[in-house]
Amino acid sequence: MNVLLLGSGGREHALAWKIAASPLLTKLYASPGNPGIGGVAELVKLDMSDHSTVAAFCQEKKIDLVVVGPEGPLVAGIADDLRAWGIRVFGPSKAAARLEGSKGFTKDLCAKFNIPTAAYGRFGDLASARAHVEKTGAPIVIKADGLAAGKGVTIAMTLEEALAALEACFEGAFGAAGAEVVVEEYLTGEEASFFCLCDGTTALPFGTAQDHKRVGDGDTGPNTGGMGAYSPAPVMTAEMTERTMREIVEPTMRGMTNIGSPFAGILFAGLMITDQGPKLIEYNTRFGDPECQVLMMRLKDDLLVLLNAAVDGQLAHMSARWSGEAALTVVMAARGYPGTPEKGSVIRGLEQAEGEGAEIFHAGTAINGGALVANGGRVLNVTATGATVAEAQKKAYAAVDRIDWPQGFFRHDIGWRAIEREKAGAK
Ligand code: AMP
Ligand code: GLY
Repeated sequence: MNVLLLGSGGREHALAWKIAASPLLTKLYASPGNPGIGGVAELVKLDMSDHSTVAAFCQEKKIDLVVVGPEGPLVAGIADDLRAWGIRVFGPSKAAARLEGSKGFTKDLCAKFNIPTAAYGRFGDLASARAHVEKTGAPIVIKADGLAAGKGVTIAMTLEEALAALEACFEGAFGAAGAEVVVEEYLTGEEASFFCLCDGTTALPFGTAQDHKRVGDGDTGPNTGGMGAYSPAPVMTAEMTERTMREIVEPTMRGMTNIGSPFAGILFAGLMITDQGPKLIEYNTRFGDPECQVLMMRLKDDLLVLLNAAVDGQLAHMSARWSGEAALTVVMAARGYPGTPEKGSVIRGLEQAEGEGAEIFHAGTAINGGALVANGGRVLNVTATGATVAEAQKKAYAAVDRIDWPQGFFRHDIGWRAIEREKAGAK
């Protein structure tokens, strides 16, 4: 098969690495990719926002499957447009990608199909949102409705913060994405990421993970796209997985079919495991980054076979097997992230790091004058496996230590929650 992978992050490098290992693969193209992806794919520069250019490339190169990494093109309808040209695509339609593209859409779906989630209200103007927040009080959660690159959520511990967040949204801090606001009940519990591979009808559980959103050790500082992750998530026991499937994922699949927008692709449920059980925080309609990196390290089956089955509506006949080992990834970021990262600093020592038994996925890297340089916020994902999370952590940090990049930084405590649990369990 000829495959085209769209995207350029660590998530896409992990997907490329796994797809490249498939005996089904003839040739892998990636656009725009990154230097790491360039090791296993031919990089091409296509304008992802111009769907007919992508389609023309697919016809010319006889692409049998397009795999879409990020949410932007999905929400913009790239899967529908490519399908209209007869091209097979892994990824949801524009209508199904509303599960990520509109928080209000997802909340209404939850209400209609009785899916456990935080209580909410949708507001299109400041006055009515303010009245609701003043009546409800803090803590409370304010969310821009649309895609805001992970920045549209404010967990307001005080009324003042909540009102400031509402004002920012309606003043256009998130552009059109903030023209509508969702106000939510504040949930407490442990968060987990739960993935399902979906074909429109069947949802196949596809691994669990936990990420670390705050930039600093001890979960301090501003939110990021994720500074590290590990899989599996210990809080997702067999019972919790079964409840999540029955109470959240399956009603979502039925609900989406019911409203005429069946969901095919990766359904990524951000969960809060509360005293009452799992509640949906949000859906994403793509793999998580960096969660995908740890999932790919543990997936024993051929990813391409599974993606094909999802595209062809054949998942009812499939299963996915996972390594019993834990996987953990440490994100190395450029100084300045999650604000404005410094670009251009030279990174050395990747081979030595890989010599420690780690897999290094590239995110924001570039080649400049033959040297590997930083070219984004999150730059490298140093990923390792081990019998326990503690072992995987040790291996990953041993590899991080071999990387010579003074302008980079990373968290020193990725996996802490799971490791505390492992220690408590061993006593
Ligand atoms: P999101 O962009 O929706 O993933 O939200 C970012 C983060 O905000 C989540 O990972 C949670 O940590 C937190 N969050 C979102 N909604 C809620 C909620 N209703 N209650 C508590 N925390 C939340
Ligand atoms: N790491 C969180 C996300 O990909 O949305």
